[in-house]
Amino acid sequence: MKILAINGSPRKGGNTETMLRAVLDVCAAGGLETEFFQAGGREVNGCKACGMCRKQKGECSQKDWINDLYPKMKAADALLLGTPTYFFDLSPEIKAVMDRTGYMSRSDDFSFKRKVAAACAAVRRAGGIHALDSIQHFFLINGMIIPGSSYLNMSLARDIGDAAKDAEGMETMRNLGENIVWLLKKIHG
Ligand SMILES: Cc1cc2nc3c(=O)[nH]c(=O)nc-3n(C[C@H](O)[C@H](O)[C@H](O)COP(=O)(O)O)c2cc1C
Repeated sequence: MKILAINGSPRKGGNTETMLRAVLDVCAAGGLETEFFQAGGREVNGCKACGMCRKQKGECSQKDWINDLYPKMKAADALLLGTPTYFFDLSPEIKAVMDRTGYMSRSDDFSFKRKVAAACAAVRRAGGIHALDSIQHFFLINGMIIPGSSYLNMSLARDIGDAAKDAEGMETMRNLGENIVWLLKKIHG
């Protein structure tokens, strides 16, 4: 079983990455295959609403990294999307991943349906819940299954390195990892 984490922050080694890797470490210890994908900082266009993915299942008219990312997402048993909080919402890279692969998956027999899916957000002060909800709405409308943790999946963090100092935030991410492993084993045996 495999979990794919997608980092929506352009800051490599930043707070979102720290959170994602805390989850992946627990998943790896629990026997899952893990992959980390850096989305933040890549050139990106949103969905052009051209309808090509409806005519050619799972193929986007834009032949870029999001088109290449879609098969990885489709193949994974669990998806973990992380974003920094930007003006109370998610990063444009994560939004583009959601809009484009979401439409691709829906035209590809709802290929994301029943995947285990979780979100996390790094937030300095406020807006993290809204960012989380934006991602979680994407999961819900695509039939994915969201495990919980011991708190909402946020770290209170501003500068690089702050997330690691937020003990409860890190504990929340480790508990999320444990619940992802538990749920995947229940689903797939
Ligand atoms: C463009 C921009 C907008 C931001 N907006 C918010 C915000 O609305 N609320 C907040 O608490 N922090 C905000 N922040 C701070 C980041 O969410 C915070 O520094 C976070 O830890 C960054 O995560 P990263 O290290 O993974 O990039 C903003 C930062 C940037 C660059």
